[in-house]
Amino acid sequence: MTLMSPPSPGTQAPAAGPRLAEGRGPLSSAVAEALRSGGPPAYATGSVLKADPWGEDLQLALYLLYELHYRGFDGVDDEREWDPDLLRLRGALETRFLHALRTDLSDAPRTVEAAFAPLLVEPVDLSGSLSHHLETEGELWQLREYAALRSLYHLKEADPHAWVIPRLTGRAKAAMVAIEYDEFGAGRADRIHAELFAALMTDLGLDPSYGHYLDRAPAPLLATVNLMSLLGLHRASRGALIGHFACVEITSSPGSRRLAKAMRRCGAGPAAEHFYAEHVEADAVHEQVVRHEVVAGLLADEPGLEADVAFGCAATVLLEDRLAVHIREAWDQGRSALRSPLPVRAVPAAEPHGRRT
Ligand SMILES: [Fe+2]
Ligand SMILES: [Fe+2]
Repeated sequence: MTLMSPPSPGTQAPAAGPRLAEGRGPLSSAVAEALRSGGPPAYATGSVLKADPWGEDLQLALYLLYELHYRGFDGVDDEREWDPDLLRLRGALETRFLHALRTDLSDAPRTVEAAFAPLLVEPVDLSGSLSHHLETEGELWQLREYAALRSLYHLKEADPHAWVIPRLTGRAKAAMVAIEYDEFGAGRADRIHAELFAALMTDLGLDPSYGHYLDRAPAPLLATVNLMSLLGLHRASRGALIGHFACVEITSSPGSRRLAKAMRRCGAGPAAEHFYAEHVEADAVHEQVVRHEVVAGLLADEPGLEADVAFGCAATVLLEDRLAVHIREAWDQGRSALRSPLPVRAVPAAEPHGRRT
């Protein structure tokens, strides 16, 4: 009897993944070309130091490098995830990004109580809130743009947070896994939140393929996703990752309520409404668990991480605010918030809620 030898790692053709994006400057072009060619990234060291940490080039370069840790790209060897040249560049870009965040947040609260307090009360003035705008006066084309942008996270929802699990112990670990269990469908593939979001996209006439809208996503959106990848991939950032996660869970329920209403008012379709309706209840529970078990459990184990938790929360608020400003500025001027507008919807709009058979 002959035993078949197992396939050697790294020699199989990579599974089809998302398409590589076009570069937006010297750094992102160097990364895209390195991934395409299989060679090292060709860039001048000075170009990292000169790059705008909020700009399209640096944010896309980081995004491409992080995607190697998720699903990679079509035609790119899976082994590039641990390519030392790419990791070296990633580290330099992360340093620029983190420095910019810390500079902007030099006056931010250093305690968990002060960082989370403003998030626990509904602001009186909601004029800057994107979800409030969408709830009260958003149009279907804006909901489609919003979903296309957010798809770069929601189609891998909760994935970057799973990286923190081996770095936690006790209460924090048990509670974090309980929340992630919900995010990943509680044992049901059709209830994985990323799947619910794909159904939302289909209702909106969008392409639910993973990473489909990357070329259209501007830097302020990429930065929100890059933050969670950065914090998720570094054990040293476990406190900040938990702060980020808590911020998302605390703010999700009221925002989701507004977005569910927006989807209903615009007749986006049942799956579109369901994604947000599901998060109204789920995240009201997650908020309690994350604050009282994950954050409190982590700080009971490692009290020295409190300032990191506060930083993760503040950085999330900062980047979400920057994204909201970017989107509102574009919409207020009657233009697309994407780098290029979505094609006109190919399928007829869903009928208003309640008239579907
Ligand atoms: Fe979720
Ligand atoms: Fe949640």
